[in-house]
Amino acid sequence: MTSSRISGFYNLSMDDRRAKIVDASHLSSEDLLPFTDGGLTPEAADHMIENVIGAYSLPVGIGINFQVNGRDVLVPFAIEEPSVVAGASFMAKLVRAGGGFQSTSSEPHMIGQMQVLDLDSIHAARLKIYEYKAALLAEADEIDPILKKLGGGARDLEVRIIEDSPIGAFLAVHLIYDVRDAMGANAVNTACERLASRIEDITGGRVHLRILSNLADRRLARARCSIPVEELAFTVGAGQSAQNEDAPAPGDHGGRTYTGQEVRDGVIEAWAFAASDPYRAATHNKGIMNGVDAVVIATGNDWRAIEAGAHAYAARSGRYTSLSTWGKDKDGNLVGTLEMPMAVGIVGGATRVHPAAQAAVKLMGVKTASELAEIIVSVGLAQNLAALRALSTEGIQRGHMSLHARQVAIAAGAEGDLIEKVAARLVEEKTVRIDRAEEILKNIKQ
Ligand code: MEV
Repeated sequence: MTSSRISGFYNLSMDDRRAKIVDASHLSSEDLLPFTDGGLTPEAADHMIENVIGAYSLPVGIGINFQVNGRDVLVPFAIEEPSVVAGASFMAKLVRAGGGFQSTSSEPHMIGQMQVLDLDSIHAARLKIYEYKAALLAEADEIDPILKKLGGGARDLEVRIIEDSPIGAFLAVHLIYDVRDAMGANAVNTACERLASRIEDITGGRVHLRILSNLADRRLARARCSIPVEELAFTVGAGQSAQNEDAPAPGDHGGRTYTGQEVRDGVIEAWAFAASDPYRAATHNKGIMNGVDAVVIATGNDWRAIEAGAHAYAARSGRYTSLSTWGKDKDGNLVGTLEMPMAVGIVGGATRVHPAAQAAVKLMGVKTASELAEIIVSVGLAQNLAALRALSTEGIQRGHMSLHARQVAIAAGAEGDLIEKVAARLVEEKTVRIDRAEEILKNIKQ
């Protein structure tokens, strides 16, 4: 059984952190090797895309404290932005005090689209397609025998009239396909390509595009959390920042105390801004995607597809809005929800060929794509809370700057204890720049 509560994780050396992960999980130190060397050999990279000249690394950090549907999970984040892993881990700890994340997902149904043009009567063509629906579904169902054996296959067919187009009205046929544990793009695109000529025969029209839709609104993941209001209270600088329990800001001399009620109401007010204004909603949702994308990338999934789906879903009412909601229950606890498309897989694609992605999936102990989706959406909700909590209290710069200052100190050549010393001076001086870090380091060394 994995335990995701690892105290003092932040302050350990990288080797000690790896040892803790081995202790806390079912992984061996060999299992973690892909994270130490990036995982991808040049040869493997050369088989993934074209014109390869090498590989590109990102830091992988472990999100701790996460409990999803009663199960502890250590979550790998691949991301370049400071504060994300720390913020999500800290919020996961607060959520844990309220019973952890409750998460569900719909069936893994993807949508494939076929654009049918040059029709005499779009209305008649639409109904003709429905007349052949059973035969079309049966044909689509046979296309991927392996997927079928695993319980996937064609599920439904819908025909939409697209009235409002620059080239006049046409039909969009939607094929709903159960892709099980795959991301599903290949299966769906193949099925659409195969059905196209049948649809042309039935309608007398011309099938133009045949491609999946990234607005995967039949493949949703949802997470809910409830945080006891007293857990939200904190004092600025009292061994924690709003984003990071483990990383007191260097040079911090303490500050204002926030009650749990103040933090809760501040989060709800911040959410209300995003719920009603697209300018704020874009940034609010970006914060959610900070967490979501980091896990999507760590598991070798297509983060552009997830991004496209998320933002299209956020605009589904015709007005772009927040993907999450925040409110309070009758006991005054803070309650958050997040629902969004989550087209991720654990078989095929980069997830299968990238050793670090395999290690990431193994670390989380997920056996199905749905389980992975449920963890990712929980991480998105945690990350959203980290941002709203910080923004509605001390602002994000303080926590951000303290983490950033450490990175700048390291970049300036500081090692060991000197990292903290240089970072603390940078924060004190409110000048987090590499030239200043180099000067400070030189002075300390002298
Ligand atoms: C920064 O990467 C993300 C935030 O801007 C999100 C938000 O504003 O909610 C802090």
